[in-house]
Amino acid sequence: MNDASARLVFLPGDGTGPEVVREAHKVLDALAEGDAHPWSIEEYPGGAKYYQEHGKEWEPESEAAAMSADAVLLGAVGWPGINLPNGDIAGAALVLGLRRKLDLYANVRPCRLYPGVLHRISGEFRPVWSPDKVDLVIVRENTEGLYTPVHGRLERGGETEVAVDTRLITRKGAERVVRYAFELSQRRGRGAPEDKARRVTCVDKSNVLAGCQFFRETYDRVAAAFPDVARDYAYVDAFTQWIIRNPEHYDVVVSSNMMGDIISDLASVLQGGMGFAAGGNIGDGHAMFEPVHGSSPKHAGKNVVNPMATFFALEMLLRYLGQRRGDARFVRQADRIERALAQVLADGSARTYDQGGTVTTSGAGDRVASVIRGAAA
Ligand code: IPM
Ligand code: MN
Repeated sequence: MNDASARLVFLPGDGTGPEVVREAHKVLDALAEGDAHPWSIEEYPGGAKYYQEHGKEWEPESEAAAMSADAVLLGAVGWPGINLPNGDIAGAALVLGLRRKLDLYANVRPCRLYPGVLHRISGEFRPVWSPDKVDLVIVRENTEGLYTPVHGRLERGGETEVAVDTRLITRKGAERVVRYAFELSQRRGRGAPEDKARRVTCVDKSNVLAGCQFFRETYDRVAAAFPDVARDYAYVDAFTQWIIRNPEHYDVVVSSNMMGDIISDLASVLQGGMGFAAGGNIGDGHAMFEPVHGSSPKHAGKNVVNPMATFFALEMLLRYLGQRRGDARFVRQADRIERALAQVLADGSARTYDQGGTVTTSGAGDRVASVIRGAAA
């Protein structure tokens, strides 16, 4: 038990990032009323727009604050047309930079469907999958793979002739993310909806790629230490069908960086869309949480996006602190958020445009905050 309060650093970033982070403050304020709230919040600017105005993605002091925080909440970074001289998105320092500098090797993306959430398919809003069949977590390797910064272009006579990205799979990188996935399956305990079996599915392309063969061998080696968790394998191409047709088969899914990036966006459709997809970037000493949707330029400044992904990210952040610090107060607050979210999703009272509703971002935040205030702590 750690009595000191936790230092949270919020990085609103670009586009819709500041709009959803504002709602996160609202929810934390509601939790803080009349109950233990062992946290303090600092907020720092940064991202693509900041780069455009200041010639740097953020201030060194902001980076230092984020790097020494107990947990970071990132809104979103990036803006079309604002790039670093090397072509990377401006603002990448806040997301890819922190993932690497803080060694946040597991990108944990829960995909759970709550009752009352609709699926938008061909412009129609309907319940397609049922909540009792969608409850899985994708664990994406977060520091290497195709995102390894060993890449570049060969320019000749002012023209790009060749561009190359190196996909590195290391023993250490594969081992620790696979172990994280197995431990997560044990911690979740409830297994896959289909048969309640604890299961870790290794998603790769080991029929073709050497890196994937090594990833799978590493998976097998680590799996031997977890006899209570079932082994399961899928090639990534086949997996994209199975996850849609049989989501109930999955408990925890582990994959390399780029494949995990793609399959987690795909899986978000099952949970109602990117408006619900939250992620935790977790390492041995640090963690950063974020809504996965990004800065969404098309919707920015309109107060229309769904803040639920950010609220689920906050819930993850509080659970992480509870576990890491052995402090039940955080877990209790995370439970309060989850209960409030489950209630407003079930009664449909906070449906934003992506759910066919007309509730605004701030309206949804007000609704969740008022449910938290109204419920017993
Ligand atoms: C994500 C995003 C990032 C990624 C981008 C913004 C760099 O797509 O968090 O999934 O590719 O990891
Ligand atoms: Mn992505």
